[in-house]
Amino acid sequence: MPTLKFAVLAGDYIGPEVMTEALRVLEHVAKQEGLTLAYTRADVGGAGIDNHGKALPDSTLKICSESDAILFGSVGGPKWEKLPPKEQPERAALLPLRKHFTLFANIRPGLLYRELADASPLKSERIPDGIDIVCIRELTGGLYFGLPKETTTLPDGDIQAVDTMVYRKSEIERITVTAIAAARSRKKKLCSVDKANVLETSVLWRKTVSEYVAKHAPDIELSHMYADNAAMQLARNPNQFDVFVTENMFGDILSDEMAVICGSLGMLSSASLGAGKNSLGLPFGLFEPAGGTAPDIAGKGIANPCAQILSVALMLRFSFGLEKTATRIEAAVKKAVTSGVRTGDIAFGKPSVGTKAMADAIIANLG
Ligand code: IPM
Ligand code: MN
Repeated sequence: MPTLKFAVLAGDYIGPEVMTEALRVLEHVAKQEGLTLAYTRADVGGAGIDNHGKALPDSTLKICSESDAILFGSVGGPKWEKLPPKEQPERAALLPLRKHFTLFANIRPGLLYRELADASPLKSERIPDGIDIVCIRELTGGLYFGLPKETTTLPDGDIQAVDTMVYRKSEIERITVTAIAAARSRKKKLCSVDKANVLETSVLWRKTVSEYVAKHAPDIELSHMYADNAAMQLARNPNQFDVFVTENMFGDILSDEMAVICGSLGMLSSASLGAGKNSLGLPFGLFEPAGGTAPDIAGKGIANPCAQILSVALMLRFSFGLEKTATRIEAAVKKAVTSGVRTGDIAFGKPSVGTKAMADAIIANLG
């Protein structure tokens, strides 16, 4: 019987609420399919600060290291906003986790069911079939981690801050490999997004992606687009993309744009895959909803658990190789939502259900 060994880092505010439901869905599937769950919960983010004095406690890092994957909720909120920026939950938990496990490949599906087209700020006639695209974001390089990264006082008394955008060819190649695999599993269309008309790193990016695809993936139809144009094209006609791949900062911005045109953050999941393999020989990864901790609705039992449940599906697919089970969960979520069972964020004024009832409907669809 396969054993799924993973760390559960639920985090703050709605994080634990949606995590409870996601685990309930997973327990159900595990029972049906004879999978053994061996997960360990650990504090992260604000919970880490409150209980251990640190957003990413050493004990949490240890539990993650001993696991095959991390199921992540969300971190941060008003309670910790007064802390210095470097100690805040988002920056002090997520970024070190990404770096520690070299989670360089961030896969963010931009999915909007046709039936939910009203949730998108785009006119429905632009997205008659909904939206189905994928953003592949490089996650451990570029401006986020490049050195120097500092603020200094200059001899003339002025103050200067510097972030460094740096990429190695090898870093671009490995994210290209992820992007090719994603494109191959879909329409074999890949758009690489950069700013090669201005940035040195982008010139290397474009050259590296072009050469790598030409040599190793001639079956992929590759195109290139400047990041500013990509922002515009996403809003004009998102489905012209199928898979797009880009560096860390552009990916941060474009994936938020993608999220908003896909309607509710409560529906979007993401996978961050590592360079390392887990004990099963599959990519170690961190799986999390795209949305945040939503302090305004925390404790009310109304948060949408779908993104967390879909993150479970991604974990099963990528870190445990359980493609069929992942697809089954995704289909159950789709069936629940498109048949009209909806939390408030996607109900458009119609009657809505709470977090638990949403998960119940998904479980019912799993048979
Ligand atoms: C994201 C978030 C993070 C990022 C923040 C919380 C550090 O916005 O995952 O997109 O900028 O990468
Ligand atoms: Mn972001």
